[in-house]
Amino acid sequence: MDNFMKVIAIFVMFVEIQTALSQPIIPPGGPNDVIQQLCKRNRYQSLCVSTLNLDPRSKTSSNPQELASISIDATTKKVNETQEYLISVIKTIRRREDWEMYGTCIEEYGAAIRRFLPATLADLKAKNYSQAMSNMKDVVSAPGICQDQFAGKCPFALTGRNKAVHDIADMTADIIKTFFVN
Ligand SMILES: *[C@@H]1O[C@H](CO)[C@@H](O)[C@H](O)[C@H]1NC(C)=O
Ligand SMILES: *[C@@H]1O[C@H](CO)[C@@H](O)[C@H](O)[C@H]1NC(C)=O
Repeated sequence: MDNFMKVIAIFVMFVEIQTALSQPIIPPGGPNDVIQQLCKRNRYQSLCVSTLNLDPRSKTSSNPQELASISIDATTKKVNETQEYLISVIKTIRRREDWEMYGTCIEEYGAAIRRFLPATLADLKAKNYSQAMSNMKDVVSAPGICQDQFAGKCPFALTGRNKAVHDIADMTADIIKTFFVN
């Protein structure tokens, strides 16, 4: 190889390296890095990461919007569990006042399951983020309305469940919020 050929070979190699470097960079840890990124500024950061990692779909998803749907599904699951708990409790209640308090909780959570959570999913799909946020806020407020029925005397077990629903719903709202900023 004469010197001219050597220069050409080095030049070609240089161009190849440049091309390789300019390729879109795949996150080294795969989709998990997208989760870290999405949860970075969430007020419930560790809940955000654990909720998204728990769903097997997140292993193959690097799309923030899909991850938001996963978070909405996880919220629905938590609301459903609480609803089932409330229904099991109300069956054992005899005092009318208690029946009304639990009944209001069941109505609130029922509206979240039937109306607001499916609407949030649909809004997200339609990329109507402000509407998604508005529906999600109605889910976030449900546990507080339930809690307030008991005027500071909410049973411990229900208080814990209301807080769990509130936090996962508020965390999901925080994820949806990131779609406005970007
Ligand atoms: C929640 O409950 C509804 C009605 O019982 C059901 O259709 C839905 O699949 C449940 N969702 C989850 C995530 O468990
Ligand atoms: C979002 O949904 C609301 C309510 O359905 C509607 O009024 C609004 O026009 C929609 N916005 C966009 C950007 O589609």
